Amino acid sequence: MITADVATVRPATRLRGELRLPGDKSISHRALILSALATGESRITGAGDGADVRSTAAIMRALGATVEVRPDDDGRNVAYRVASLGADGLREPDTILDCGNSGTSLRLIAGVLAGLPMTAILDGDGSLRRRPVARIIEPLRRMGAVLHGRRADSLPPLTVVGHTPLRGMDHTTPVPSAQVKSAILLAGLRAEGRTTVREHVATRDHTERMLRARGVPVERAEDGDAVMVTLEGGTAVQAIDQHVPADVSGAAFWLVAAAIHPDAELTLRDVGVNPTRRAIIDILRSMGASIEERRVDDAVDPSVGEPIADLVIRSSELRAVELGPADVASAIDEIPVLCLAATQARGTTRIRGAGELRNKESDRIAGIAAGLVALGAEIAVDGDDLVIPGGQRLRGGTADSIGDHRLAMTFSVAGLIADDGVTVQRSGSAAVSYPGFFADLEGVQA
Ligand code: S3P
Repeated sequence: MITADVATVRPATRLRGELRLPGDKSISHRALILSALATGESRITGAGDGADVRSTAAIMRALGATVEVRPDDDGRNVAYRVASLGADGLREPDTILDCGNSGTSLRLIAGVLAGLPMTAILDGDGSLRRRPVARIIEPLRRMGAVLHGRRADSLPPLTVVGHTPLRGMDHTTPVPSAQVKSAILLAGLRAEGRTTVREHVATRDHTERMLRARGVPVERAEDGDAVMVTLEGGTAVQAIDQHVPADVSGAAFWLVAAAIHPDAELTLRDVGVNPTRRAIIDILRSMGASIEERRVDDAVDPSVGEPIADLVIRSSELRAVELGPADVASAIDEIPVLCLAATQARGTTRIRGAGELRNKESDRIAGIAAGLVALGAEIAVDGDDLVIPGGQRLRGGTADSIGDHRLAMTFSVAGLIADDGVTVQRSGSAAVSYPGFFADLEGVQA
């Protein structure tokens, strides 16, 4: 039951069904941005219609691209038609660019604006205004960009004065972040010479795949323990049609729900299983989850080449797992729901080096710990490490999502197995990435 901004989820006797999930949020953002940078018309089907992707669409409109949206044929997602005169045809916006809750919009679009001859301000909601931007200001400045943030360039709003020419550079990211990598690559498109980003943990590579599909050569090489991604400035981005696979980060809630529920079998259709995104599937499998993967390779536009699969997940006996900083980087958005899975596993799960979770839509270490404790679980936080004993019975009660979509969905899934059910405060935040989550939650119990 959902009233106002509170949802109550009762324990479910069984979970069954086949779900079409929202289009991948990361891919949807990038498809909109690259379509606006391309000359001509691009069509995007299967795009997610969460609030975050809507923010990016609105910003591309404010920069002068034509962005039309209609419900997609799948009855779940949206289809966009983007027509643009290319990067040189974009214009200075009349208003502040509102990224809402979306860190991906803010950081990627900052990289675009850095190379355009205009001044623009990127802002967002209270959560976004607490998220770090020095991580993009510093590298983009090295490329010659002029950017300013609040509090000594550490926080949004972010002003980008893109009137100076950019030069390519070779940059090693101190913290693995696909947003930072993508911002630098997008700036690199307009820079003179080559731009290289080196990462010690390879982050999601959707930007690189999509750039290649749009005619921009992007090299990937390994150098010692680093992965290097390089592009040459000045190459035009081409308009293409593309399809967005279902979001594996949204799938994660159902993977965990079915794995921890005693009578469950769910089928998740057309899920993106890109090697840089699928860590949650592999981690859950290493915990003993029964996840069957049926390849459906031809359902996605082969020009972008994002691999997809149908996933079938059944009730499982989970075992505890030990995760380190590289695992955290690979499953960065799925760690909260993985903590819930850990409470139901045999043995004690340890997640080390999860500090980056504090920089998300909320401090997710504090948020997941407070919420699970409120539901009767034991979970210890030691600096940036989490220790979660398994085999715990969840009593249930009230948990606050603190306005964070991934916490709202995690606590809702907990309700399916908690003795007294769970009331989730600020549950509406789920719509940031997964509008229709609560309808799906009811659907799988029908
Ligand atoms: C994203 C990258 C990740 C992730 C976010 C989406 C992206 O952030 O947490 O939800 O689309 O590039 P970081 O790259 O900052 O870790």
